[in-house]
Parts: sequence; C-alpha cells; structure tokens
Amino acid sequence: MSSSNVVKIFDTTLRDGEQAPGCGMTAEEKLRVAHQLEKLGVDIIEAGFPISSEGDFQSVKVIADTIRGCEIAGLCRANYNDIDRGWEAVKGAEQPRIHTFIATSDIHLQHKLKKSKDEVLEIISGAVKHARNYTENVEFSCEDATRTDLDYLCQAVELAIRAGASTINIPDTVGYTVPEEFMHIIRTLNERVKDIDKVTLSVHCHNDLGLAVANSLAAITEGARQVECTINGLGERAGNASLEEIVMALKVRNDMNPYTTRLSTEQLYPASRIVSQVTGINVQPNKAIVGANAFAHEAGIHQDGVLKERITYEIMSPEEVGIPSNKIVLGKHSGRHAFRTRLEEYGYFLEDEPFKNAFKKFKDLADKKKYVFDEDIEALISEEFVRSSDFYELVSANYSGGSDMHPVATVKLRVDGEEFTISESGDGPVDAAYQAVAKLTGLNPALEHYIVASITEGIDAQGEVSVRVEDEGVITQGQGADTDIVVASVKAYVNALNKLRWRKEHPKRVSSRGMM
Ligand code: KIV
Ligand code: ZN
Repeated sequence: MSSSNVVKIFDTTLRDGEQAPGCGMTAEEKLRVAHQLEKLGVDIIEAGFPISSEGDFQSVKVIADTIRGCEIAGLCRANYNDIDRGWEAVKGAEQPRIHTFIATSDIHLQHKLKKSKDEVLEIISGAVKHARNYTENVEFSCEDATRTDLDYLCQAVELAIRAGASTINIPDTVGYTVPEEFMHIIRTLNERVKDIDKVTLSVHCHNDLGLAVANSLAAITEGARQVECTINGLGERAGNASLEEIVMALKVRNDMNPYTTRLSTEQLYPASRIVSQVTGINVQPNKAIVGANAFAHEAGIHQDGVLKERITYEIMSPEEVGIPSNKIVLGKHSGRHAFRTRLEEYGYFLEDEPFKNAFKKFKDLADKKKYVFDEDIEALISEEFVRSSDFYELVSANYSGGSDMHPVATVKLRVDGEEFTISESGDGPVDAAYQAVAKLTGLNPALEHYIVASITEGIDAQGEVSVRVEDEGVITQGQGADTDIVVASVKAYVNALNKLRWRKEHPKRVSSRGMM
C-alpha cells in the first residue's frame, strides 16, 4: 500500500465525460477545456479516444502538442491498432500516457468479448507490452472490475504489472459497487498482487447508484492514489465521480481524509462553467460545490446565522472554489484596458480579434444593461471561444408578433463565410426564427429540449438559453445568451447546429462499449 498521501487527479471530462449523450465537443472546445484543466492543476488529462474518429484523434493530438504541465492520456482498447494510433496522438505531450483497457468480468467475457479468461490474459499481456515499446507511462484498466471474480482480477492485475504497466486502474464501470465492497477489493489487491506497491493504483467510479464519490474516497483510504473523475460529474449514463466533490471532500475534511491534491481549488467553478457552456449541459442548481444554490441560504434562520458568523452554516467559502460574488465589474464608461484586466483576473486570455469582438459586445451590453456582472462577461466571451470552428454565424435576428399578430422572424446568417437573409413565420417568435435558421442551414433537427434561465438577477438580466437537438441519432447541445431571449434562443440554436454539422462530418467509428 502506498505511503504517499498525494492523490493524483486524472480528469476524463474530455473522454468519458464526452460520452454523455449530446456532449461531443469540437477540437477547439476540447482545447479550451484542456487549458482550464491545466490552470486547475489536474495531474492527467485524458484527452480522448484517438481511434474512435479522425476528429478525436486531432483533438487529442492538439491537446498533447499544446498543453504543458499535465500528463496527456489517450484511451486505447487492448489491441495494437488502437495503441499505435493512440501513441501517434499523444506522443507530442511533455508526459504522454497510453491508457489501454479490456473487460475482465465473466458477464463481459461471455456476452461481449466472447473470449475465455486465458485468452483475455494473453491480450492484456500483449497489449501492455506493445504499449511499453512506446513509453514507460502505461495505464491498464480492467473494465467492469467490480463485477469481476476477485481471484481473476488479482491475476489480471499482476500480469499487467509484469508486462510493464505503471498505473493500474480499477473501474466500477456500471456504478454497481458500494464503499465497503470497493474497499475490500482494493485491500485484497494490495495484499495479494505481487509488486502492486511499485505501481499507482487508480479508481474510476460511475455514479449509477449515486455512490461514485463515496466509492472513490473509500478506495483512497485503502491505498488508491489516483482517482479518475470529471468536471460536473459528466459522463456515461449517470456520469462519473465528480472532480470538484472529490477534491473539496479531501480539502474540507482533511482531518478524516489526510490526503492532498495539487489542484488550485479557486479554478473549480470556472472549470464547471466552461464545461457547462461547451457541452450545453446545465449544472443542476443543488449540485454540490458548483451548483447555483450550493452557497445560497434561503431560510431566515440560516441567513441570520451566516450574517452573524459564516461558519454557522458554511463549511467552505464560495471564494475557495472560485465562485464570483456577483460583483459589478464594469460599466458603460469602462475602457479596453479595464475590460482586458478584468478578463485576465477572471482567467481569460483572448487573442486580438476575439478580444475586439468581445469588447464591442461588452459595450453593446453595457448600453442595454445597468449593471454588468462577472457572469455576463463570461457568457459574452464564451461566444468568442467557439468562433473558429463555426460554420454558421448569427449576424442579426429581428422579429415581430404579439397577441394579435402572426409572428414573423427575419434572420441573417453567415453560412460558410457568405451572408444570407430569410423571413419565416411560426407559432411564436422563437419558432419563426428557428424555421428561418433551418432554411438557411438546410438542417432541421428535432428540438428535444429548450430551457431559458436568467444569468443574473433583475429585469434587464441576460437570458441564457440551452437547447438540445437530435438528427439521425446525433445529439448536440447549444447555449446562447442575450438581453433579448429570442436572440439568445437563436444563438443557442445556431450553436447546436454548428456542433451537429461538425459531429456529422466527424463521425465516431467505434464506441468504447461493445468493442473487440
Ligand atoms: O468505465 C470504464 O470502465 C471506463 C474504462 C475505459 C476505464 O471508462
Ligand atoms: Zn468510465
């Protein structure tokens, strides 16, 4: 069992997180998230699954070539093709890692892989040895480990170590285990597997029973020194263990969990916001650490207590996790310099052209809105980050309607660099505008989800619209913000259509489930 008390944070938002329905990200979006993960200080970024598509290969490669200060991992099934392709993608990183895996449970062996236990052991040994030809930094995962016969799990892990793996990952792939049982599994591996103390033991928990964080913490007490997790707990089905919850549980309850990470916790909330903007998935208001209500005190008795002494009802401060205090940042008379300084304080470094666009938008917003908050600025500049991958760009949206008039919307869109305008009618102004966008783009997906929320308080607050669309099985999400909610709705729709077209042009060749 490890004597170190440092726990490595392995972030898989860009790989397992991306496997959540509709969360596919473009290369630019992934790079933007990766920059924030670098700033947050995660130890390892799993940037994607390089063989799954050309797009994913390129995203992993660009992240490996750009990000410094974190190890960059690429996921590969346990076969030579995947590993060769995975290495091509990650090899430019400061510290590249090959992460290879195969299922070890009887259920997966019989129904999915249709292989015997001995055959799988042979595959493990061959795959890890092949990966070792490229690098010493090889992680091996036993998919569905928590439903694997424990003797066989010990055998598989020992073989992977003998073949040269430096990290062994024990996934609770289907979120089935409970803390006591998981502790028993990790303890048994530590007791029985030869040379287990020479590798980093890692865990990777899914949240189907809502136990992913509890199971990860339990495993740490038994010697796991790497946890795999995602921002906002994003991931397949009910998601993965939430990174922010694990990190803050270790920090706030360090008396009970005497382990440290190297993360800058004040970057947690910005990371949560970026992932939410990029994926279009809103964080539930009561989500621990980063939810809108995580630090809101509604009951009078609580408010009274907090005003008298914060620690009566607060176990950590919002500042510690980077939640802005609804500060009025700038007004309509603020200049470029003040605007750039504020952006940099908030952690955004924009190139000249996006900065110019963002500043113009800020001025327009400040004309419409009395107070401009951090959240407004953040929504505004997030549009600048996705620009370069956009096929469609909204130039203008105008509409007329009301209780006695049939709604009509006129939308001007830049499509692949050329401007087009069209007017359409509909059941309401948003419907009319969406019909116009559909005509202009030639895309008419089903609108599965449409949510409007206000970014800050007050009658002049910006509306933030999130949409989810589906076309021939491809699901994407989009977000848009504006003081006019019809315009915000069009921005969100255009954002979702950009991703839809990108997804269709970069189809995944395989899924990480049901392979081999
Ligand atoms: O959940 C899982 O088993 C995985 C592995 C590929 C690590 O994501
Ligand atoms: Zn997983």
